[in-house]
Amino acid sequence: MESDTLLRSKARQVQQSDIKTTSIGAELGLLGLLLASGLAGLAAQSATVTVTMFCGGVLTWLFVTLPDFFNARAQGLKQQQQEGKEGKAGAEEGKQGADNGAAAGKPPASAGPLPSPEAALALIARRRSVFPKDYNGGRVTREEIEKLVQAANWAPTHGQTEPWRFVVLEGASKKAMEDLTMQICRTRLPADKAEKTLEKLTKKADSTWGKISAYLAIVAKRQARADKAMPEWEEMAATACAVQNMALMCTAMGLAGYWTSWQEVAREAPEMKEFLGMAPEDRFLGMAPEDRFLGMAPEDRVMGFFTLGRADPERLAGYRGVRGPWADKVAWRG
Ligand SMILES: Cc1cc2nc3c(=O)[nH]c(=O)nc-3n(C[C@H](O)[C@H](O)[C@H](O)COP(=O)(O)O)c2cc1C
Repeated sequence: MESDTLLRSKARQVQQSDIKTTSIGAELGLLGLLLASGLAGLAAQSATVTVTMFCGGVLTWLFVTLPDFFNARAQGLKQQQQEGKEGKAGAEEGKQGADNGAAAGKPPASAGPLPSPEAALALIARRRSVFPKDYNGGRVTREEIEKLVQAANWAPTHGQTEPWRFVVLEGASKKAMEDLTMQICRTRLPADKAEKTLEKLTKKADSTWGKISAYLAIVAKRQARADKAMPEWEEMAATACAVQNMALMCTAMGLAGYWTSWQEVAREAPEMKEFLGMAPEDRFLGMAPEDRFLGMAPEDRVMGFFTLGRADPERLAGYRGVRGPWADKVAWRG
């Protein structure tokens, strides 16, 4: 679209310069005619001949030049209108491209050039799990979260099932999930373990949970496509890839986040699944899968939560990654 508009605009510029050249040629010709009329009048020593020739020259000049002038003006106006329309259409198309891209899962029209291998490796190596104790309490906007999910949505997927699902928990929902976690620990853990766990969680709730802007519940849909049932491990692996995409995007956007498995006992408890929209099977009786929330069912897996927040740049910079040598993790067979 952009190059089409550019070509059309260039063609118009060429047309306009043609008009200008024709008009300059005509003007030079007429200048010669006027000069000749003056000389003819002088030679004939007659004022009448001079005036007649001069007026004839001027009239001819007007006759030849004016159509060009009006033509150029009309073309200019038309071009302005056309460019206005195209600019608007182009902007609209670009916007739609990006929006549709995001919605329809196409690469966004604004996708820039690929990073160099060094830049890609730097992003991967500098991604860090940033823990809530270091968040500054700033909120992550809806647009930013959408961008993260957009990145997640480009994960690889065997059988094109796209099993990753996310439930964004903010505000009251976030607090409700935290409270539910406490409640599940209280009711499902043996008494002695419950006491210790609740003590630990209460401390976290007081000191760090308040700094988290949102949790993204990570769900692997067991059978995202009715016509395909892939092995469960593949769907969970694809969902993990989606989380990694999200984490990388987080780093690129200067946000803070990390993947937490959450409390083991609470993560996949029926109460938690129901809270996240994976209602017990009996609640689904007679309900078409597409009418369920995100089409989620109890057999879908909750793979923890991605915490999201903001951290001051110096806090982010303070995180250091540690890895053993990559060469120790690869075997070569010739
Ligand atoms: C599947 C998964 C679950 C995780 N769960 C937790 C968790 O429950 N608590 C935690 O502190 N970190 C958790 N992490 C984050 C790791 O602690 C973190 O990746 C590790 O310390 C390496 O740091 P880095 O991510 O900055 O490279 C989890 C990571 C993954 C991949």
